[in-house]
Amino acid sequence: MSSLKSGIDTKNKPFNALIEQIEHVATHSTDPMLLTGPTGAGKSLLARRIYELKKQRRSVEGAFIEVNCATLRGDAAMSALFGHRKGAFTGAVHDRAGLLIAANRGLLFLDEVGELGLDEQAMLLRALEEKTFLPLGADVEQCSDFQLITGTNRDLAQEVHAGKFREDLLARINLWTFRLPGLRDRREDIEPNIRYELDQFARRSGTKIAFNKEAAARFLQFATSDSATWQANFRDLGAAVTRMATLASGGRITVDIVGQEISRLRSAWSDLEPDQDHELLESVLGTDKIKSMDRFDRVQLADVLRVCSQSRCLSQAGRTLFAVSRQDKKQPNDADRLRKYLGRFGLTWAVIARDSQCATYLRRNELTA
Ligand SMILES: Nc1ncnc2c1ncn2[C@@H]1O[C@H](COP(=O)(O)OP(=O)(O)OP(=O)(O)O)[C@@H](O)[C@H]1O
Ligand SMILES: [Mg+2]
Repeated sequence: MSSLKSGIDTKNKPFNALIEQIEHVATHSTDPMLLTGPTGAGKSLLARRIYELKKQRRSVEGAFIEVNCATLRGDAAMSALFGHRKGAFTGAVHDRAGLLIAANRGLLFLDEVGELGLDEQAMLLRALEEKTFLPLGADVEQCSDFQLITGTNRDLAQEVHAGKFREDLLARINLWTFRLPGLRDRREDIEPNIRYELDQFARRSGTKIAFNKEAAARFLQFATSDSATWQANFRDLGAAVTRMATLASGGRITVDIVGQEISRLRSAWSDLEPDQDHELLESVLGTDKIKSMDRFDRVQLADVLRVCSQSRCLSQAGRTLFAVSRQDKKQPNDADRLRKYLGRFGLTWAVIARDSQCATYLRRNELTA
């Protein structure tokens, strides 16, 4: 078995192939790798396993240094990564070597790399290309030769477009990009992962817990259904199993406990669903105008906008929207009715269908599909 897997059988073919490729690259290359994928998909865990594998195969000698870039801000960010000299800024009372030096001959894992500031990005690029960098307040460059893995759940290409991420740095770090699938795309792996989480619980608590037969079937049925969105992926699954195991008296998880857990997960996930109507309306009307609208109008207008975005012209959208009522009219003028409806909100076909952010929003979110 590949040592990158967590000792859990995966029955998902694409995931298996992905892990095998990552393993191959990890053992044959020291080039940067970018791990992408939704939160909780296992990027951080994988980065650590890649390091362990490299260490086993002796392709890395130094330490595994991990930092979440979202925790780095301002002077502190520069100094944490690249170090500083005593007196470089107020509060710099000692020299500090920084994480790049700590990762010399080892592996640096920069998690949430999209959060890195532009100045730090520039320094990092130089450190990757030339293996040298200048600590804050220093006049002599430092050297560090490290392997780099970055992680992100953002679309870095989009960040480049938005001017928040350097294009040259992205080109340098994404030589190998691996996208980890969320749990929803690995449904066949949910069952072994439930067992794995129960084992982990037993190890932590010293209590062995099992599902009653019916309870196991009920949980698995829900866990692998479309309504289980597993928004935080392994983190959600781990938490769900931990809660059920904690509530199990006499070492058994019952149907009642499963029922409560399903409700808990459903409500947690629905709280996290983005309000797509709101985002869509905001893209054409702006926040203030939405606030002055009745809920009823908001829902109706959002649906009208969706239909418009899927239609070639005003008349086609009108035919869809008034499909029932138009049959009662001798000469239905759907386009006119729709024009008047949109006019109530100060909107025109041209604005919503072609030129506006609404069209972009609809395309981006694939609501038009
Ligand atoms: N393949 C796996 N099998 C079982 N548990 C896993 C697996 N991958 C990750 N986990 C567990 O899920 C949790 C989240 O994993 P991890 O921190 O690696 O996710 P992440 O992708 O880095 O998330 P984020 O984007 O929020 O940083 C951890 O507790 C980890 O141990
Ligand atoms: Mg992580």
